Amino acid sequence: MVIAVVGATGQLGSELLSLWGDRAVGLTRDQLDLADPATVEAALEATGARVVVNAAAYNQVDLAESEPAAAMEVNSQGPRRLARWCASREIRLVHVSSDFVFGVDSSRNLPYTESDETGPLGAYAVSKLGGELHVRSGCPDHLVVRTCGLYGHAARRRERGGNFVETMLRLAAGGGPLKVVDDQRCTPTSTVVLAAAIDALIESGSTGLYHATCSGSTTWCGFAREIFERSGLDVEVEGITTAEFGAAAARPGYSVLDCSRLVRDTGYSPPDWQDALTRYLAMRDATAE
Ligand SMILES: NC(=O)c1ccc[n+]([C@@H]2O[C@H](COP(=O)([O-])OP(=O)(O)OC[C@H]3O[C@@H](n4cnc5c(N)ncnc54)[C@H](OP(=O)(O)O)[C@@H]3O)[C@@H](O)[C@H]2O)c1
Repeated sequence: MVIAVVGATGQLGSELLSLWGDRAVGLTRDQLDLADPATVEAALEATGARVVVNAAAYNQVDLAESEPAAAMEVNSQGPRRLARWCASREIRLVHVSSDFVFGVDSSRNLPYTESDETGPLGAYAVSKLGGELHVRSGCPDHLVVRTCGLYGHAARRRERGGNFVETMLRLAAGGGPLKVVDDQRCTPTSTVVLAAAIDALIESGSTGLYHATCSGSTTWCGFAREIFERSGLDVEVEGITTAEFGAAAARPGYSVLDCSRLVRDTGYSPPDWQDALTRYLAMRDATAE
């Protein structure tokens, strides 16, 4: 069974390609541009895939506030195009979405289940919700997998972007103290864990909506402190509020996802976020250039 991975150069796309090896065909943005319907059809047709995984996205959460149409084109219309093509050929579509579909409930303090009502806060979040709705309504054989706080090794090779772990280590090299947001609770998740969850969902023949993150939760400030502690770095980290940080886009104060449906239907039980971080840092050390 050939699996086409859209977004081959991204953190998750690279991880899936390395997990699946010869079973998968990666499609870069040059080959398949989600904003260009002609390339979507031509590129997918050429792969002969029976499963399409959409790991591509417009992920610039703050920039999306000033260019919402660009975010909608990639994150909402792109998945709609994939869904239409997959449905017409009875091909399974696996689409990756985000914890940011939640957030409007500012008093929330319990993990969100798949049946909880969504409520996105910003342009990126709205575009991601649009994408998952298009996939769920447009392609009968679908999996929509929401994740959170993603970091993977591909970000180390990128000229721009990076991920939270790489950003913290780069900032630490410039000396502390660092100010990091301490009032957004979420679950950092490595691409290794998310790729394993997606693989388990496909292998088990599961369909529908799933949450897939590491287990446990923390704040970005807690995550930063853990990164430095596990890296043996003595960096002073000061917790600040979302308001003090002053990002362009509003973000959920609480976006922990309940993954029990994933565990029940696949038998795959994601590790704690601290364990996944330890493995990421060990691999980083082992492959340092
Ligand atoms: N990162 C997070 O913290 C986070 C949190 C929750 C959910 N997610 C979701 O998880 C999924 C994977 O995220 P990630 O962190 O692996 O993403 P990523 O590293 O930012 O990679 C995004 C990929 O999408 C590609 N892409 C962008 N615009 C495209 C277009 N118009 N057509 C085709 N490809 C395009 C990029 O190609 P180029 O390299 O050419 O730009 C890149 O390969 C996404 O759905 C994301 O929304 C991420």
